[in-house]
Amino acid sequence: MCGIVAYIGSKQCQQLLLEGLKRLEYRGYDSAGMAILDAGRLDLAKAVGKVANLEDKLETIGGLRGTLGLAHTRWATHGGVTEPNAHPHTDDKVGIALVHNGIIENYAALKTYLEEKGHVFKSQTDTEVLAMLIGELYEGDLEKAVQAALREVTGAYAIAVICEKEPDTLVVARKGSPLMLGIGNGEFIVGSDPAAIIAHTAQAVPLDDYNVAKVTRSGFRTTDIHDVPVTPKVMQLELDLEQIELGSFAHFMQKEIFEQPKALRNTLRGRLETREGRVVLGGVARLDKELTKARRVILTGQGTALHAAMIGEYLMEDLAKIPAVAEYASEFRYRNPIVEENTVVVAVSQSGETADTLAALREARERGALSLGVVNVVGSSISRETDAGVYLRVGPEIGVASTKAFAGQLTVLAMLTIYLGRKRFMSADQCADLMRELERVPDKVDRILESDQRIRKVTEGLVDRENWLFLGRGYNYPTALEGALKLKEISYIHAEGMPAAEMKHGPIALINDGMPAVFIANKGRQYDKVMSNIQEVKARGGRIIAVATEGDDQITRLADDVLFIPEITEPLSPMLAVVPLQLMAYHAAVLRGHDVDKPRNLAKSVTVE
Ligand code: M6R
Repeated sequence: MCGIVAYIGSKQCQQLLLEGLKRLEYRGYDSAGMAILDAGRLDLAKAVGKVANLEDKLETIGGLRGTLGLAHTRWATHGGVTEPNAHPHTDDKVGIALVHNGIIENYAALKTYLEEKGHVFKSQTDTEVLAMLIGELYEGDLEKAVQAALREVTGAYAIAVICEKEPDTLVVARKGSPLMLGIGNGEFIVGSDPAAIIAHTAQAVPLDDYNVAKVTRSGFRTTDIHDVPVTPKVMQLELDLEQIELGSFAHFMQKEIFEQPKALRNTLRGRLETREGRVVLGGVARLDKELTKARRVILTGQGTALHAAMIGEYLMEDLAKIPAVAEYASEFRYRNPIVEENTVVVAVSQSGETADTLAALREARERGALSLGVVNVVGSSISRETDAGVYLRVGPEIGVASTKAFAGQLTVLAMLTIYLGRKRFMSADQCADLMRELERVPDKVDRILESDQRIRKVTEGLVDRENWLFLGRGYNYPTALEGALKLKEISYIHAEGMPAAEMKHGPIALINDGMPAVFIANKGRQYDKVMSNIQEVKARGGRIIAVATEGDDQITRLADDVLFIPEITEPLSPMLAVVPLQLMAYHAAVLRGHDVDKPRNLAKSVTVE
């Protein structure tokens, strides 16, 4: 999604802004731009495509000078991918430059109003309307003009604004789209993501909805849009530079797949008291009483996070015996859901900023649900808006394809299941057994990663096929969905995931000679049924790739290729079964020559509904 970086201080800021943009590239974008204020004059540069194109442009024009500036990576929503539509946008009256993440929903009405006042627009964006509106309302005070303009807009925004008439002022604001103010030594760096800030400072103020910050070289103040002062909450960013650099890996996705064992050890650290069969979740302990009364759990998220939520649904019903349902956040919000007393909503999200998930969470809270967050990014909107939560602690995930976050989500959901189950039907021994299995997962993932080159070889033989099926049952039906999502989003191969039994109700018609059908066929309650489904596909010429349990000879005779995973209790098997699927998707994308970390049309964090 779009990215913002802005600077005010004493350094020449072009390079710093460019570096900030590069650290935001992973979020997904299609054009970039920058504005710097020097000696009361604004200079701008914009380019379609990569940040490298903006860099070239800057070199061609001899660079921009100045110590106050802002920059942006745009992911098109209103208007095509063109230079005029790229940010920053300017007004035509007082020399405003503005960058914006989000969507101004009432931009059309505001545009008509501004056109009637004689303003002439150069782009098709909603953002330019906001720049013009601030210019129109400017009466010698940028902060006040921004506040006044924001009182007129509906929608979501994170903005940074500068004005030729105020060379010592940067104004930033947020509603519904993340933004933080990094506090450096005699300088301030604003970013829509900690990655843009961390090279300069670990101290930051995450803005809350409707917060406006006026930043000068000597300090800052925060208010709401009605100019009521707001006390800033300074936090320490838990991120170090190494975590957001590639090191010896070719891509962030590859790095993050290989980081999974370490990430999972981190997720588990200090949370399992195995001998007592007790899970210690500091973040939710204070809601103990309310959670004991929980009668129903709604798990919600989008994409990979939804797949984790679906496995959470199986875990909670099967083990903790709590009625549970997993649902697309985007659907939950708009279908007038019934939220009964003692319902707990669990919002699952890597970024903690997904607009659909945030909106569903707000809806559920509004209807009286107790809310828990299963989130990776500390201090993110979802983590702040839930009653309590459990962080994934898997470290920053940069690759657009979510991998280690999925592993962390499953681990947290398993712990949450034990936590809730222990209050109901799970005995201490049963909990302890599951916890012992959980503790062994990181080593088992390590073992799967050792077969990386074999998985690459298998993928080589399939990569030219344009249609794949991913099939699984029970706990591994969502794993099949996840395998298909991974493949399609980075390799652009069409893939469908579904319950293995569903195939014969229609999709079986698709099967032709050599069509790859990836079965998750590990040992479990439905093993025999999955074997029958494999036979059905094989009989129609499909090529069978099976993810199976080590030592399974039967599958070796049946499948064309087998990718083995270590033995594990069925409820935790998705944590292993997904790893070969992640690696297959990764290799398929590399073999097809795609930009794995920046797949076309996609954004890391989808902050618009
Ligand atoms: O940050 P979130 O976990 O809320 O993101 C949800 C989805 O947008 C995300 O999982 C998406 O589907 C990934 N690209 C999948 O790899």
